[in-house]
Amino acid sequence: MSKKVMFSALSIILLIVLAACGGSEGSGSANAESESSESKGTLVMGTSADFPPFESFNPEGEFEGFDVDLAHKIAEELGYELEIKDMKFDGLIGSLQSDRVDMVMAGMSATEDRQKNVDFSTEYHHSGEMFVTTKDSNIKSLEDLEGKVVGVQLGTIQYEGAEELKKEYNFELKSMDQATTLIQELKTGRIDVGYMDKTVAEGYIEEQGLAGFDDPTTSSPGMAVAFPKDSDLKEDVNAVIEQFLEDGTIDELAKKWELTED
Ligand code: ARG
Repeated sequence: MSKKVMFSALSIILLIVLAACGGSEGSGSANAESESSESKGTLVMGTSADFPPFESFNPEGEFEGFDVDLAHKIAEELGYELEIKDMKFDGLIGSLQSDRVDMVMAGMSATEDRQKNVDFSTEYHHSGEMFVTTKDSNIKSLEDLEGKVVGVQLGTIQYEGAEELKKEYNFELKSMDQATTLIQELKTGRIDVGYMDKTVAEGYIEEQGLAGFDDPTTSSPGMAVAFPKDSDLKEDVNAVIEQFLEDGTIDELAKKWELTED
């Protein structure tokens, strides 16, 4: 290769590298002022990708699920790029409070307790609660839970709910970081029962040949997008969710991910 050819090859590579760097610089957080004609910047969404069909990883290691699709559609409608960050469910509220993410979509129930620390959008899905067991289990009601080990995901409303139920039904509570671990522990017999959102439980029951029964005591609120307190984003996202509820977009996604409404 002549020196001249090599020089121009090197400058082309340099140009490509510079262009690539420049490209990512333009995208700030959704809170940043930066605005271009194509994209308003990047919307950073926190989730806990252990909760199919709402959020999980596909075999290629990409995020997928109802919340993931809905988040992409919301971002697109509002003119943002979307970046998804996976974290422990238990850390999501904290990451909103410290502005590390612009919003959270994680099948999160819009409880009054959480509303002290974060704001919620309009609810987009409602799920009850369910106890999941192995197929051959003889645990079929709350009364059968006595002396058994019940697993719940840390930071969830089910964890709080189980702490209350345990006083009456005398079971042992075991907390786990991830909903997926809960199912593994159930299948390997390290816990007797898993307690979780009914919509998610039903998916696992069908897919993994498990069994379960409804929690008759539950009265949890629906799932919604969470924001840092007083975030400007909330109104914009609400407008889009309301539009999607009306024009059938949410129904379509619910069908795609086989969500059962409770
Ligand atoms: N709906 C329950 C809650 O808000 C559980 C949500 C768990 N979500 C998850 N991505 N693991 O507490």
